[in-house]
Amino acid sequence: MIGRRRRSRRRQWDDRWGRADFQPPWLHQDVRPEVAAAHDSGWIPAGASVVDVGCGLGHTSAWLAARGHRVLAMDLSNAAIERARALHDVPGLTLRRADVTRRLRDATSHDVVLDLGCLHQLPARALPEYRANIRRLTRPGSRLLLILRIRAGDAGAPTVDGRAEFVGAVLGPGFELHSAAPLELQSNGDLPARPGAEVRFVRLST
Ligand SMILES: C[S@@+](CC[C@H](N)C(=O)[O-])C[C@H]1O[C@@H](n2cnc3c(N)ncnc32)[C@H](O)[C@@H]1O
Repeated sequence: MIGRRRRSRRRQWDDRWGRADFQPPWLHQDVRPEVAAAHDSGWIPAGASVVDVGCGLGHTSAWLAARGHRVLAMDLSNAAIERARALHDVPGLTLRRADVTRRLRDATSHDVVLDLGCLHQLPARALPEYRANIRRLTRPGSRLLLILRIRAGDAGAPTVDGRAEFVGAVLGPGFELHSAAPLELQSNGDLPARPGAEVRFVRLST
């Protein structure tokens, strides 16, 4: 049963990313501005190794790789990874199909983890393995930047603080909230507002 649900989630994302006209409001054709800001301010330190969980078409990952980061960009969808490979040929960028809700093979720790819209759409039953993988992908000192939608009906209060609490509960002990800020999720300012949150965490201990 679980395997069937997982396959159907994967098929859903493959169907979406397989369509050239898939242009959801949240899709940026370039780096997400929040990540560019984190990079420009030094919060993503120069030369840091980065893993981008649920990278989609990989625009943000490629932007970071072009600035000297080693970036592992992973996505559940083969179609997304194939399109990302066709779009970006940047030294330092590795694109890989991987399901963050299944034990990641050969996971190594990174300085920075990005989750730009992946966690918020995972089912509750997938969260324990997501947490285990984030632990495998980090070490004390690693930084995490997540972008989540704020929507009534999702886990926790539909506020920026509620989203930060949700992420804290998913990550578990050893991670400290660094900051939480509101943002607009849509890439085109002419579209109706879609509220979201940017939350940053730091891993303190093992
Ligand atoms: C809302 S999209 C965001 C994509 C990209 N981060 C961006 O900002 O454009 C969520 C992404 O997570 C991927 N995804 C969904 N479930 C996943 C899983 N279990 N493991 C890895 N990626 C997953 C989807 O294929 C999709 O590309």
